[in-house]
Amino acid sequence: MSPRRLHLAVCAAAAANYPPIPADLTTPVHQRLAISGPNSVTVGWNTYQQLSQPCVQYGTSPDDLSSQACSTSSVTYPSSRTWSNAVTITGLKPATTYYYKIVSTNSTVDHFMSSRVAGDKTPFTISVVIDMGVYGADGYTIENNPAKRDTIPSIDPSLNHTTIGRLAQTVDDYEFVVHPGDLAYADDWIEKAHNWLDGRNAYQAILETFYNQLAPISARKPYMASPGNHEADCEEVAFAATLCPDGQKNFTDFINRFGRTMPTAFTSTSASDAARANANRARQLANPPFWYSFEYGMVHFVMIDTETDFADAPDAPGGSAGLGSGPFGTYANQQLDFLAADLASVDRTVTPWLVVGGHRPWYTTGGSGCAPCQAAFEPLLYKYGVDLAIFGHVHNSQRFTPVVNNTADPAGMTNPKAPMYIVAGGAGNIEGLSSVGTNVSYNRFAYADDFSYATVSFLDTQRLRVDFIRSDDGALLDSSILFKEHDEQFVVQ
Ligand SMILES: *[C@@H]1O[C@H](CO)[C@@H](O)[C@H](O)[C@H]1NC(C)=O
Ligand SMILES: *[C@@H]1O[C@H](CO)[C@@H](O)[C@H](O)[C@H]1NC(C)=O
Ligand SMILES: *[C@@H]1O[C@H](CO)[C@@H](O)[C@H](O)[C@H]1NC(C)=O
Ligand SMILES: *[C@@H]1O[C@H](CO)[C@@H](O)[C@H](O)[C@H]1NC(C)=O
Ligand SMILES: *[C@@H]1O[C@H](CO)[C@@H](O)[C@H](O)[C@H]1NC(C)=O
Repeated sequence: MSPRRLHLAVCAAAAANYPPIPADLTTPVHQRLAISGPNSVTVGWNTYQQLSQPCVQYGTSPDDLSSQACSTSSVTYPSSRTWSNAVTITGLKPATTYYYKIVSTNSTVDHFMSSRVAGDKTPFTISVVIDMGVYGADGYTIENNPAKRDTIPSIDPSLNHTTIGRLAQTVDDYEFVVHPGDLAYADDWIEKAHNWLDGRNAYQAILETFYNQLAPISARKPYMASPGNHEADCEEVAFAATLCPDGQKNFTDFINRFGRTMPTAFTSTSASDAARANANRARQLANPPFWYSFEYGMVHFVMIDTETDFADAPDAPGGSAGLGSGPFGTYANQQLDFLAADLASVDRTVTPWLVVGGHRPWYTTGGSGCAPCQAAFEPLLYKYGVDLAIFGHVHNSQRFTPVVNNTADPAGMTNPKAPMYIVAGGAGNIEGLSSVGTNVSYNRFAYADDFSYATVSFLDTQRLRVDFIRSDDGALLDSSILFKEHDEQFVVQ
């Protein structure tokens, strides 16, 4: 190769796969909704310039967006090309379709359904995706399976073959999405040699591309995110620490993007003074987007941080993952104090279902469970009668019969005392799928042949259904129903 051709090749190789910057810099990108309070929704989005006053117009008809909410919140960090904006809309009527337009000289009207109030017993379904990354030149593969490897970069732009595509096709079938950790996989820029000379731009390019891909879903449905190891840091880049961009350290992008959209904890509507006091305490101790809770219809949902802020947390400075991040609490036990207060506040006559979402599982096939997570969280989940616990991190789909201390609850799925656990980490990312690995006796389903995700349907106050769906064709892979009596107002066991 001539020196000139070599130079061109290096330049070409170094160019990050950035999406184009819109000519109108007020154009909203990366739109994302969040349930932020009993009558409020937060609209988050990014722009390629700072906004002095981000605003959203809204109303109950597309022709009458007569209300407007604004903020002064438009933030960025050194290696980012975009600013992250957030506006909270309050005073919404429950479970009502609202039309909204992010104020810009180049935006369109979209719509969302406002939250169901706590205590509304109407059945509904949510989608659960974890470990979902970008597709295209820097993403998606089914590792070690050439027959299934996506032909990058010729993936159908209509989002075919992907979990994002399935979520888009089924967008009217679920009311919100939970995504407990590992979004985009931007820190995996290192897996593509063409990124090695410019990790800073490759990282940002993957983030911008992923959140563009997600926007058709997250602009329509609340998208509740919590932290995973891929949001943390770049110390896995051992040979090139100097190339580690600032924005990749200590959950920086994750905090910028979701820190002002995720909720703290809701004010309790329980008649019990003790429940209201615990919920107030949980509000004080919550630390979104790391640990927080929200209520929606018949469900109280808690998001936990399995990465930092408990004993031997894997991503903490000195932790087993080598990611040197956090802590985020103002004192060592803040997260667990939050969790105890929050779980204790749950009045089952208002929200019969109690669900916890986090990133790293302790029940998983293949023997890669997080022992410090189990030590920190499992006793609280059991004590307060959590019904369903949702994890990812392991890149496949798994379901476990209700279990505590590695022993199956003898009641099985019929009014167990122990939580039912699932792993829904098969949504698809550049690292590919994890094999099912060695079985454990309390496993009831595991699938790692193709990308998949879960839906959870709250059928009534006593029955909850978990379905695992193959992303490619929507096939139902596994379906199970958990029955709980929910005959105690406050569970303490
Ligand atoms: C307006 O927004 C659309 C959709 O986001 C984008 O494709 C287009 O480039 C934008 N136009 C300008 C002038 O920025
Ligand atoms: C892409 O999706 C469409 C619509 O769901 C489907 O009809 C088509 O078969 C898919 N293409 C491939 C190659 O699977
Ligand atoms: C990460 O950020 C938190 C919150 O700002 C801070 O308290 C902590 O010290 C930071 N950790 C590291 C390793 O920089
Ligand atoms: C689980 O194990 C812990 C520690 O040995 C014990 O204190 C607790 O009672 C056990 N819980 C159940 C439900 O068996
Ligand atoms: C693991 O074993 C259980 C109990 O024997 C069985 O029901 C389950 O299907 C097995 N899981 C896998 C992935 O083979």
